[in-house]
Amino acid sequence: MNEQAQRAGFRSMDEGTQEDWAIIGSHFFPFAQALPDRVLAHLRLLDGDYGGFPIDRLQHSLQTATRAHRGGESEPYVVMALLHDIGDTLGSYNHPEIAAAILKPFVDEKLHWIAEHHGVFQGYYFFHYLGMNRDMREAFRGHEHFEDTARFCELYDQSAFDPAYDSAPLEFFEPMVRRVFERPLNTIYRSVGETA
Ligand SMILES: [Fe+2]
Ligand SMILES: [Fe+2]
Repeated sequence: MNEQAQRAGFRSMDEGTQEDWAIIGSHFFPFAQALPDRVLAHLRLLDGDYGGFPIDRLQHSLQTATRAHRGGESEPYVVMALLHDIGDTLGSYNHPEIAAAILKPFVDEKLHWIAEHHGVFQGYYFFHYLGMNRDMREAFRGHEHFEDTARFCELYDQSAFDPAYDSAPLEFFEPMVRRVFERPLNTIYRSVGETA
């Protein structure tokens, strides 16, 4: 039996054995290593998705990341900027939380917080046009990451809808995505990756 065909033998987890979990463990690491490919593929799903905006969601993501890169931000920050709207496809009502969850094992707490809260901070620029309170972000005033999140939206996110901007292509960011997603900083499964 080759490695590819190896399967655990249990019908329910309470029947599982050490051998079963050795098989599953051997599959986990290569699968986790391919996460950057799945992230990049998912970003490409935003291609051509305009939602009424001046540019599509992939171009907005690239422009946000390009502006952050040209603004001298760190590599994890630029990757956060690239992924901040990756949840638009599945998280129609909570897209920031999708990006935050994907990024959480790989970035520090501040970048995770910015990703998770960018939606309500971005609302400062348009909630009032939808009959909502543009100052909803004030609920977070005084939080240690308030200013950094407001800054992300002001400099890189709300400003990234210019059709004439010369954004870098997704290929430019690919090596950065691979480096940031190479090794988790925070995960309960960390020991699996280290021993596999
Ligand atoms: Fe967003
Ligand atoms: Fe955005």
